[in-house]
Amino acid sequence: MENDEILKEQLAYYSARAQEYDESAGVGGRFAGPEELDPLIALEEEEARRALWAIGPVEHTLELACGTGIWTTELARISRRITALDGSPEMLALNREKLGDAQVQYVQADLFTWTPEALYDLVFFAFWLSHVPPEALEDFLLKVYRAVRPGGRVFLVDEPAGGRLLSGEVLDGQYQTRRLYDGREFRIIKVYYRPEEIASHLERLGFEKLEVRRGEYFFHLTGRRAGVNPV
Ligand SMILES: C[S@@+](CC[C@H](N)C(=O)[O-])C[C@H]1O[C@@H](n2cnc3c(N)ncnc32)[C@H](O)[C@@H]1O
Repeated sequence: MENDEILKEQLAYYSARAQEYDESAGVGGRFAGPEELDPLIALEEEEARRALWAIGPVEHTLELACGTGIWTTELARISRRITALDGSPEMLALNREKLGDAQVQYVQADLFTWTPEALYDLVFFAFWLSHVPPEALEDFLLKVYRAVRPGGRVFLVDEPAGGRLLSGEVLDGQYQTRRLYDGREFRIIKVYYRPEEIASHLERLGFEKLEVRRGEYFFHLTGRRAGVNPV
């Protein structure tokens, strides 16, 4: 793939950032610029959490790019079992520390080569889609579709095109340079997709009842897989 090198750098970035991720991604961390913290950020996050909880109860959830477990914790409230996947062993270790093994099974895999081997009642991913380059989008969404059982749900949270940028994010086409606390810099993919475009894409693949909530900073989207026969 055209962006192979940068996708490797992106994964290396998250592994290197794992220990500081929760602080830098949380309120008062990455989100806090010199200006006052915008209360909309917490509000929109809370809206996404509530919309997710409203989906439950769920028997078996697959979380893609689970990271340190910020959303795994929310999924644990509504799911009996979770399979949490990430490409970074450092991220998975932190997630396991937070969540424990009882309810969660951990899988280390590269999402650009991963293929789903089971059907899940819910497939969830937060702040992952924007790290998928446009040329890999179709393939990724198709895999998501194949991982959702007929009648099951997809739910995603991310940052929309045309939204307000979180501090530390600078538009540079489909790339961004991110810096760690120790000054190391990494190039990553960051594509702000249009939520309606993603919803139409999912509809074409066979999801129905698409619901999109677009905020200033974040959007969340959910849909149900139609049909009875897995593709
Ligand atoms: C922005 S973080 C999101 C983490 C989590 N979903 C959250 O919202 O806190 C992106 C995650 O994608 C993972 N990741 C990066 N490249 C990956 C790849 N090629 N395959 C699987 N996971 C990858 C990183 O390790 C990181 O945990």
